[in-house]
Amino acid sequence: MQSLKGKIAFITGATSGIGKACAYAFAKEGANIIINARRLNLLKEIAMDIQKKYDVNVYAFELDVRNRKEVFTKINSLPAEWKSINILVNNAGLARGLNKFYEDNPDNWEEMIDTNIKGLLYVTHAILPGMIQRGSGHIINIGSIAGQEAYPKGAVYCATKHAVNAITKSLRMDVIDKNILVSVIDPGLVETNFSKVRFDGDEARAKEVYKGLTPLTGDDIAEVVIFCATRPPHVNIAQVTVLASQQASATIIHRKDQ
Ligand SMILES: NC(=O)c1ccc[n+]([C@@H]2O[C@H](COP(=O)([O-])OP(=O)(O)OC[C@H]3O[C@@H](n4cnc5c(N)ncnc54)[C@H](OP(=O)(O)O)[C@@H]3O)[C@@H](O)[C@H]2O)c1
Repeated sequence: MQSLKGKIAFITGATSGIGKACAYAFAKEGANIIINARRLNLLKEIAMDIQKKYDVNVYAFELDVRNRKEVFTKINSLPAEWKSINILVNNAGLARGLNKFYEDNPDNWEEMIDTNIKGLLYVTHAILPGMIQRGSGHIINIGSIAGQEAYPKGAVYCATKHAVNAITKSLRMDVIDKNILVSVIDPGLVETNFSKVRFDGDEARAKEVYKGLTPLTGDDIAEVVIFCATRPPHVNIAQVTVLASQQASATIIHRKDQ
């Protein structure tokens, strides 16, 4: 097992859910963390709390991964002591809406494609050259079971997560001679803000998603991220699918009270 002590982990979408859990998990392992998302106030609170709990450094900055210029400018101007990123966790992402394709609003598609695909590409493209120069690095993408299977009313979200899996595989081939690892973790149902965001803040509808089952938590996924990041140097965990015990596939869910 490799230690994360003193390493630098860069986590996108760290204000909530899986990304926030990853921030705490890396800090607990002694890694210094760079956290970002759009809600700076939340990031600052998380950074302060982590620094109180763990003896690590935290660098927090506001970032909208959809904004290509902002991504490159901000990552290229990181302070010198934060430039040598060892691990990138591409986590920022969302689903917007759950509608039949022909009834869906194309604005939802733009938002998902811009965040889940283009945002991941921009951040990776900004960080990867440094990893190549230093001759080491690990990119861990958060995909989804929706990247392995399509489900009704999820055409574009599923497409974005299929893209994450394709990008992961291609990228792994492109950096095979660079001592850089590329992994993807595909979670099933994780109870975070994901469904609230998907249903535009409709809490009752969001709760229904997890009704009758014990969903995964952000911590469950963070634990897998840490597992991937701490394997011996000759091991690359290429892909992990993590489902709740009551979930068999994207659409087959055993709900106990139904
Ligand atoms: N929850 C699930 O069931 C599930 C299952 C499979 C995969 N996933 C994937 O897991 C990842 C994390 O989702 P989650 O479940 O933890 O949801 P979440 O609680 O809603 O967290 C999403 C995070 O992404 C950030 N984000 C969204 N748009 C962004 C943007 N344009 N720029 C920067 N940051 C942005 C949000 O921060 P701000 O709003 O502050 O920017 C937030 O921190 C996503 O890629 C999602 O697709 C989730």
